[in-house]
Amino acid sequence: MIANNLKIIDNVLYFGGRSTIELAEKYGTPVYIMDEPTIRENCRRYVRAMKKYFGESSKPFFASKACSFKRMYSIVESEGMCADVVSCGELYTAKAAGFNMKNICFHSNSKNDFDICFAIDCGVGCFACDNEEELEAINHFAGEKGIKQDIIFRVTPGIDTHTYEAVNTGKVDSKFGFPIETGAAMCITKKALSLPNINLVGFHCHVGSQLFESSVFVRSAEIMLVFIAEVKKETGFEAAVLDLGGGYGVRYTENDPVIDIEDNIRQVAEYVKSKCTELNLNQPEIHLEPGRSIVADAGITLYRVGNVKQIEGYKNYVSIDGGMTDNPRFALYESEYTVVAADKANDKCDFPCDLVGRCCESGDIIQPRIMLPGSIKRGDLIAVLTTGAYNYSMASNYNRIPKLPVIMLNGAEDYVAVKGETLEDIIRNDM
Ligand code: LLP
Repeated sequence: MIANNLKIIDNVLYFGGRSTIELAEKYGTPVYIMDEPTIRENCRRYVRAMKKYFGESSKPFFASKACSFKRMYSIVESEGMCADVVSCGELYTAKAAGFNMKNICFHSNSKNDFDICFAIDCGVGCFACDNEEELEAINHFAGEKGIKQDIIFRVTPGIDTHTYEAVNTGKVDSKFGFPIETGAAMCITKKALSLPNINLVGFHCHVGSQLFESSVFVRSAEIMLVFIAEVKKETGFEAAVLDLGGGYGVRYTENDPVIDIEDNIRQVAEYVKSKCTELNLNQPEIHLEPGRSIVADAGITLYRVGNVKQIEGYKNYVSIDGGMTDNPRFALYESEYTVVAADKANDKCDFPCDLVGRCCESGDIIQPRIMLPGSIKRGDLIAVLTTGAYNYSMASNYNRIPKLPVIMLNGAEDYVAVKGETLEDIIRNDM
């Protein structure tokens, strides 16, 4: 199995020590199932390794876009994580969960006046400032509210991480942040230092997602530290914070490598230390922003088969009771997933098929070209693995399909972390 929270016992898939058959009977399908101990262990790995190698002042921020609901913020906060948010919706959710607003960094490349004011009023710790208009707006509203606002600048180090294009964000021509290469990052830094209501604390970069090579993080640390040294030389300002973003990869299939995050952090930390010495810099407080690697393997999605369609001489389809509305990642990025017939998990898989959703759209594919047991039929249980990241958070109501509940497992206990939407919810805002 691709994660150690998965097991097969008596031909049944178990997740977090629990039978998927029993969970499906108790909560119905389709349903997201998440395992709280796995989330906690994933947080601890970052907290431990960062403290050990980057020092006590370092901070892991949970990139909450990966999976945002109240209970999630409480879990990660209780494990010592800060959080990054990209919208007032995420910020509001964190606030409602009682998250310490000082430990939140507000991202997004297009924050409007409402976003900025709302975040300042919430007492958000820091803005990751993305562009000049935003800098001016933060300065303006902070002044109006009589505060000096901490910000970090998002800069693009000019790295092509060769991950899939939609998440390849560190290149010079990215929509995010200020490129270092063109001089824009230096220019905006000088401007920020001259603004009365802005407290520039450091710099941020995020070069991509689903990354497995530690060399990528070392390379971006190098470019960022050289930039920090140049800023120091030109302006006298020495950044107190360096945020290296998120991006560590997870295993969607057996083909994905196992990544040793602790060792990876050790390598980056050693590099940062030696580079700071070489550049005569004090080591900045290091921030990381893991999202996927905190929650992905803490989630699976359970569905029931609706029908099996065999087109003689062409192909076979297995349709389920969910689809791109609860998991749009294949439709968007052709992402790979591991699919298991959860109630016949050891049966021989000799039936080639595409696993497709219920939406009125041919692109509603969860995973093409998979193998399932030949006996697969209506009512059988299907588990799609590693769906804890960017599934619930990217879910939609296309075709007016209600969003699924999120059920959290905690050893022998289980609880509803997010209620499933009802048909009533679907028309809630209709006038
Ligand atoms: N920090 C920043 C500024 C980011 O933009 C992201 C992800 C992260 C941290 C977290 O990266 P992670 O550790 O999760 O790789 N919807 C896509 C992923 C989009 C990632 C966007 N930014 C997907 O489903 O693959």
